[in-house]
Amino acid sequence: MEKIIDENKQGESLILQAKSENSRKLYIESYGCQMNFSDSEIVASILEKEGFNTTQNLEDADLVLVNTCSIREKAEQTVRKRLEKYNAVKKINPGMKIGVLGCMAERLKSKFLEEEKMVDMVVGPDAYKDLPNLLTEVDEGRNAVNVILSKDETYGDISPVRLESNGVTAFVSITRGCDNMCTFCVVPFTRGRERSRDPQSIVAEINELWEKGFKEVTLLGQNVDSYLWYGGGLKKDFDKASDMQKATAVNFSQLLELCAMAQPKMRFRFSTSNPQDMTLDVIETMAKYDNICNYIHLPVQSGSNKILKAMNRQHTRQEYFELIESIRKIIPDCAISQDMITGFPTETEEDHQLTLSLMEYVKYDFGFMFAYSERPGTLAERKLEDDVPIDVKKRRLSEIIQLQLEHSLYRTKQHVGKIEEVLIEKPSKKSDAHWSGRNSQNTVVVFPKEDYKVGEFVMVKINDCTSATLIGEAVGYSENN
Ligand code: SAH
Ligand code: F3S
Repeated sequence: MEKIIDENKQGESLILQAKSENSRKLYIESYGCQMNFSDSEIVASILEKEGFNTTQNLEDADLVLVNTCSIREKAEQTVRKRLEKYNAVKKINPGMKIGVLGCMAERLKSKFLEEEKMVDMVVGPDAYKDLPNLLTEVDEGRNAVNVILSKDETYGDISPVRLESNGVTAFVSITRGCDNMCTFCVVPFTRGRERSRDPQSIVAEINELWEKGFKEVTLLGQNVDSYLWYGGGLKKDFDKASDMQKATAVNFSQLLELCAMAQPKMRFRFSTSNPQDMTLDVIETMAKYDNICNYIHLPVQSGSNKILKAMNRQHTRQEYFELIESIRKIIPDCAISQDMITGFPTETEEDHQLTLSLMEYVKYDFGFMFAYSERPGTLAERKLEDDVPIDVKKRRLSEIIQLQLEHSLYRTKQHVGKIEEVLIEKPSKKSDAHWSGRNSQNTVVVFPKEDYKVGEFVMVKINDCTSATLIGEAVGYSENN
């Protein structure tokens, strides 16, 4: 994903297309986190076997699926607007069926059918393998719902259809669900309990991607550092595993090492790290392998211990600083990014100042910042009053965004004058004469194309920067090619 400082991290959309010779046409749109985009590739793979070919034209579709996000109210509003649009098209094309997937499907369940009358099918994040059966129901004129959350579904056996791919970078999911129960967050309710995917299937998918010419993989999970494979089943049931299962269990740093060793010329990233679960062995494994990128997305949400506690984040401001210090000691040039929430219930001006001072201390390379949005069913919604006025939330949000912009510029300036390895991903959006890629730290680098090609590792001399982009010129191929 391109680096952005934007409160719409979970609100982006992408129309996806795959190629095959099938007859029925699927239009699939995804909103929200990277996991949703990755899930849509799994859905496209399941439906390809059912004879569906994807289309970018809504008007041509036999089946319209929208993979939804519930993280903030705004994300849900966006989806509702899209559903209205699909229904307008359905009036012209009555044979068209509409299905809602993902977190909103899980949160609202059959309410979608009862209250909204806007969809034919509601499918939660763990039920995609049931899509063929659900489609039969829909084809026979009945509405279909499956929102059952699973103990062991990881879709490890499904080879995703790569949609809208640049052919260079891909996401590989390694865990599903989350057990952390941050009090503001709807994810544990919509994506269920945490479970990990078989490392063999992860490595097999990575090898397959390498064979197809991919050069970079991002390992995905809500909380990757908590990855633990012991033969299948929920993370919380690990205690009940046999001694043999415990002795042969694979944790995140071991998985990272397996991946780095399986494809030494492939680059690896991972997202997201939760501070309370990130361990030193992960940082040491990153340092040990050149092909693991020096970048950690380490959301903190707030700089105030009082707010961190109310959010059920299991670490203090001091412990977070210690983790930052360890990262900087072991990997001095590691980029670090944040997620931040302003206006969580009871947040005072003093708490807000603590967030700003934490940012001042870390000087993040970039970040994703949001105003608190109360989500139904979360502990915060049930126990705490959403008492920070919207204008105060917004003012605090603009202050942290402003400070982040200053820090991003401070960080990008550190790259100027250096020669850095960049993986070319695509033409620059602003100029067709330039390539756009990223360095190890995940910063976007643009430079004149010359004879270089997409998918090549190139050494680029950085001459200039903005707060979001490095501008340079290639000085030759990296030895990694
Ligand atoms: N661990 C996850 C977090 C998913 S939510 C991951 O893989 O990134 C992404 C970010 O959205 C969170 O870090 C948090 O900053 C923000 N967020 C979550 N719930 C929110 C809410 N109710 N209001 C505002 N922002 C929220
Ligand atoms: Fe949400 Fe906290 Fe998990 S932000 S996804 S409950 S780590």
